[in-house]
Amino acid sequence: MKWQRKDILAIEDMSVEEIRQILHTAKVMKEILMRPIKKLPTLKGKSVVNLFYEASTRTRTSFEMAGKVLGADTTSIAVAQSSVSKGESLYDTAKTIQAMRADLVILRHPSSGSANFLADILDAGVINAGDGQHEHPTQALLDIFTMEERLGAIEGKNVVIVGDVLHSRVARSNAWGLQKLGVNVTLVGPPTLLPVEMEGLGVKMSHNLDSALLGADVVMALRLQLERQKSGLFPSLREYSHLYGLTTERLKKTGKQSIVLHPGPMNRGVEISDDVADGVDSLIERQVTNGVAIRMALIYLLIGGASNVVA
Ligand code: CP
Repeated sequence: MKWQRKDILAIEDMSVEEIRQILHTAKVMKEILMRPIKKLPTLKGKSVVNLFYEASTRTRTSFEMAGKVLGADTTSIAVAQSSVSKGESLYDTAKTIQAMRADLVILRHPSSGSANFLADILDAGVINAGDGQHEHPTQALLDIFTMEERLGAIEGKNVVIVGDVLHSRVARSNAWGLQKLGVNVTLVGPPTLLPVEMEGLGVKMSHNLDSALLGADVVMALRLQLERQKSGLFPSLREYSHLYGLTTERLKKTGKQSIVLHPGPMNRGVEISDDVADGVDSLIERQVTNGVAIRMALIYLLIGGASNVVA
C-alpha cells in the first residue's frame, strides 16, 4: 500500500491497515538498527527538526537517532534557549523552521491538539511526539510492536494498563490502537485518576488492580505524573503504591507468565518495584530499542518519497 499521510497525529484516526504498514516497516527497520554498522543513505538530503516544549529523553533522542540511521539531517531545538523564551508563538516558530526547508517537524507540546494545529499550517510533515493529555501515537506503536515481538498475534489477548490514566496520553493512544487490533484493554487506577469518559473508548475500567490482573497477558504500568497534578488526587504515595504499584507478588495474580511494560521514565518504588522493572518479564529496555525502529519507520514512510514502501 502506498503511504498517503503527511502527518502522524493520533492513533484514533488511523486505520488498521496503516497501523499494520507501520509495524511491518518497523520490523525491517529493526533489522537495520541491529546491524553493527547502522547507517543508510536513504534519506540523505532530508531534514528532520525536533521541537520539544516538554522534557523528553526517550522520544526526542530516538527520533534523532532514527533520522540519523536513515541518513537524514536531524536538529533538536532547545526550546528554553530559543526565541520561544522571548515570547515567539508556536505558529511563528513552526513557520520559521519550515522556512529553513525542514521536511519533517516532530512536536512535543503541553497543549492537546497542538500537533493538529501545526499539521494544518505546515506543508512539512508533522509527527505528534505527545500533545498534552491527548495522544502519544509513536509510544503506542512501539508498545504494540513490543507486545507482538514477544507474544506473536495479539488479537484476543488481555492488556491491563494501570496508573495515572487521567494524565496519560500513552494510555489513550494504546487504548485506541490495541482495540483496533482486537485486544481486550482494561484500565485500572483510583477513581480520581481514571476519568469516566474513558469508558467511551470501549475499554473495561477497574479500581481494583488485584482482580483486574487475572488473565492479563500484558501489564503496563503508567508513570504517576506528579508534575501535572494540581491538587491531591490520592491520599499519599505510600497508599497509591500499596494499591496500584506493580510488585512481584502482585504480578503472580495474572496466573500466567505476563510481560511488563512501562513507557518511562519510571518512578521506581511508586508505580513499579525494582524487581519487576528489572525482572525477567520486563520488556522496558526492549521498548526503548523498538522506539527507534518505530520512529525510523515513521520518518521513512513520511518523507521517504516514491520509495517509501518496504517489501
Ligand atoms: N515515553 C516517553 O515519552 O518518554 P520521554 O518523556 O523520555 O520521551
